[in-house]
This record gives sequence, C-alpha cells and structure tokens, in this order.
Amino acid sequence: MLELDGIAKSFGGRRVLDGISLRLETGSIMSVLGPSGGGKTTLLNVILGITDPTDGRLLYDGEDLTRVPMEKRGFNIVFQDYALFPNLSAHENIVYGLRNNPGVSTREEIGELVSLLGLEEHLGKRIDELSGGQKQRVALARTLVMKPRLLLLDEPLSALDGVIKESIKTKIRQIVTQFNLTTIMVTHDPEEACTMSDRVLILNEGRIAQYDTPENIIEHPASDFVRTFILHQLEVKRDNIRSLFDERARPNPTARED
Ligand SMILES: Nc1ncnc2c1ncn2[C@@H]1O[C@H](COP(=O)(O)OP(=O)(O)O)[C@@H](O)[C@H]1O
Ligand SMILES: [Mg+2]
Repeated sequence: MLELDGIAKSFGGRRVLDGISLRLETGSIMSVLGPSGGGKTTLLNVILGITDPTDGRLLYDGEDLTRVPMEKRGFNIVFQDYALFPNLSAHENIVYGLRNNPGVSTREEIGELVSLLGLEEHLGKRIDELSGGQKQRVALARTLVMKPRLLLLDEPLSALDGVIKESIKTKIRQIVTQFNLTTIMVTHDPEEACTMSDRVLILNEGRIAQYDTPENIIEHPASDFVRTFILHQLEVKRDNIRSLFDERARPNPTARED
C-alpha cells in the first residue's frame, strides 16, 4: 500500500501542494484529475522521487521512502512524451533498462509482455516508424519489463485518439490486473479518470478536492468545485451522446404509413 501523509511542496515560497494525505491499496489504479496548474505533475514527481517534498512523508508497505532516492524506490514512470530513444529499435528500447539490471525479467517474460501488448511485428522497427499508439505500447513495455511495484503514467492517453485510446485503456487495465500493479495515472479527462480507476484524486490548487471511488464522486460530489468542473463535464458528454442516439432512434415521420 502507498501512503502519503501530509505531503506539501513549495516553489520559491509558493505552495503548489498542501496537506496531501491518502492511501492507495496495492493492485489498484488511482487517477489524478484536476485543472492545469493544480499540482498533478508535481505530485507525480514527488512520488517518483524527482522532486523532494517540502513537508510530509511517503510510505510504501510501511517503509518510509521520503528520503530514499528515486532509483531505490522501485517505482517507474511512463512520461507523457514517452521519452523513447529514437535511434534504437522498438526491441532495443524495451530491453534498455535491463542492461544494468539483467535478470529482472526473463526472456520469456519479455516475450509475454510483447505479445500482450501486440508488439511482435513491430520489434525491429525504429521509433519514428511507429504510430502514436505503438510508441505508447513500447513505452509501457519498456517500463513494465523493469517490474516496478508502482507504475506512474503521466497523461498516457492524451496523444491518442478514438479506437486506439479505448484499446490502450483496456490493455492498461488488463496489465494492472495481471501483474497486481499499483498504478497512478494523471489525466485531465474526468471520463478517463472515472472509467479507468478504482480511486480518483481530484486536485485543485494543490489541495485534495475529493479522493474517492468514481461512484461516490458522481453520487456525492464533495464540493461545488467537484460538481462544476468534474460532474458538469461528464453530464455534458453524457447528454451529447444520448441526444445523438435518441435522434437516430426516433422514427422518421415521413416514412409512416397512412
Ligand atoms: N520547478 C518548478 N518551479 C517553480 N514552479 C513550479 C515548478 N514546477 C511546477 N511549478 C508550479 O507549480 C504549479 C503546479 O504545477 P504542475 O504540478 O505542473 O500542475 P499540473 O500538472 O496539474 O498542470 C504551477 O503553478 C506551476 O507553475
Ligand atoms: Mg502536468
């Protein structure tokens, strides 16, 4: 279990995170949702260990990791821009991290991941020969071969569209379940957050607006902020789609008999 206890971060005297306390069960997905500038990336960086918190503690399975350097935490991130090596092939990217840590994943396990992510026929391609969705899957594979105990994803779906987005969503869920991975995903899309996660953390101006299950956020929004910015967006989307289908379902009056 991941525990944050009173995490705060100031930049030049300005608080960008304040009093962040929460628990996340092993094997579950949390989405971090909120307006731009709300502190989402800063929180991810504090958890990963790129950024030191000004205050508070971070624990994993009871162990205090607040001052433990990034590479010793066993956490790993898929960056928003994937940060793949353009001059290496998909396969070379996937196994890159294993150079210094051979044996973390066996050849068999790598093969399993590659097949789960549907990357078999792309392994020999250079990164610039891959589509956005394929790059995303390579970035996921590269991170997963390192067997992180906590997987961080910064807006993993924002560069993808339509059907590809839905298929990556399904893959991420499948992997999280199969590997019992604890996962934290940043997004600015309430639908993504609520459909992908067990818990949603809504951040506003560096504070927790609500930390809850998607169901509770929808049924019991904790504040006007949650109601206005999160629920309202979902309702507009729902109503748009509903009216689209209702219109098609309505019988065409000119086609009626008599
Ligand atoms: N390294 C930094 N130095 C100074 N201010 C920063 C730094 N990183 C982030 N901030 C500020 O902290 C606030 C939160 O930023 P960020 O965590 O990137 O928000 P989000 O990811 O939700 O858009 C913003 O006002 C941003 O300008
Ligand atoms: Mg950000």
